[in-house]
Amino acid sequence: MNNVIVAPSILSADFANLQKDIMAVEQYGADWIHVDVMDGHFVPNITIGAPVVKSIRPVTNLPLDVHLMIDNPEKYIESFATAGADFLTFHYEAAPDRVKEIISMIKSFGVRAGISIKPKTLPDVIFPYLADLDLVLVMTVEPGFGGQEFMYDCAQKIPQIREKAGQSLIIQVDGGINKETAKICTDFGANCLVAGNYIYKSDNIQAAIRSLRG
Ligand code: DX5
Ligand code: ZN
Repeated sequence: MNNVIVAPSILSADFANLQKDIMAVEQYGADWIHVDVMDGHFVPNITIGAPVVKSIRPVTNLPLDVHLMIDNPEKYIESFATAGADFLTFHYEAAPDRVKEIISMIKSFGVRAGISIKPKTLPDVIFPYLADLDLVLVMTVEPGFGGQEFMYDCAQKIPQIREKAGQSLIIQVDGGINKETAKICTDFGANCLVAGNYIYKSDNIQAAIRSLRG
């Protein structure tokens, strides 16, 4: 598939040098900046919140792709939207009975809406909402930490979603993405790749980003 979007995850960047690490991936061809928000409840880890999104907004021209791994996402959408998020992706598992409302809320702020499914969640649960969504994020690890191993079974959900959604939906994958697993996912129909460790722990960021494009 052409025009693969590469979204480095700043979870693997140096938090004391976020501006520098964001500018580095922008300079070397990243398309979006992926921001992992974790609350210590939905996932067993705490990362960053809306004030950090607000601070990084002026340092890059790239879209900020904010991945909310939090309970009660509806309580925080306004603050992330006004902080400058361009995409807000919440987890189906965090609000299975409020999906439609949350998508509408995200769009009411002029932000593009995404939904994510964890490894054990079947893709069928999001089929009713595909027409309302800009993006579906298929997790290829259990959310919570960078640097985990890619789960092939999760990637097998991609063709099912692509078949139902058509070509305009962005299908994103996140977790354990490297040169090899990126190819598996794009062959399956994904067109947006999140990568943390593969990009930020590499000694050649430019080559790492380029290799993801195949
Ligand atoms: C995991 C996060 C990912 C993480 C990916 O819960 O959603 O975005 O940063 O890290 P890597 O690419 O190292 O698996
Ligand atoms: Zn993520």
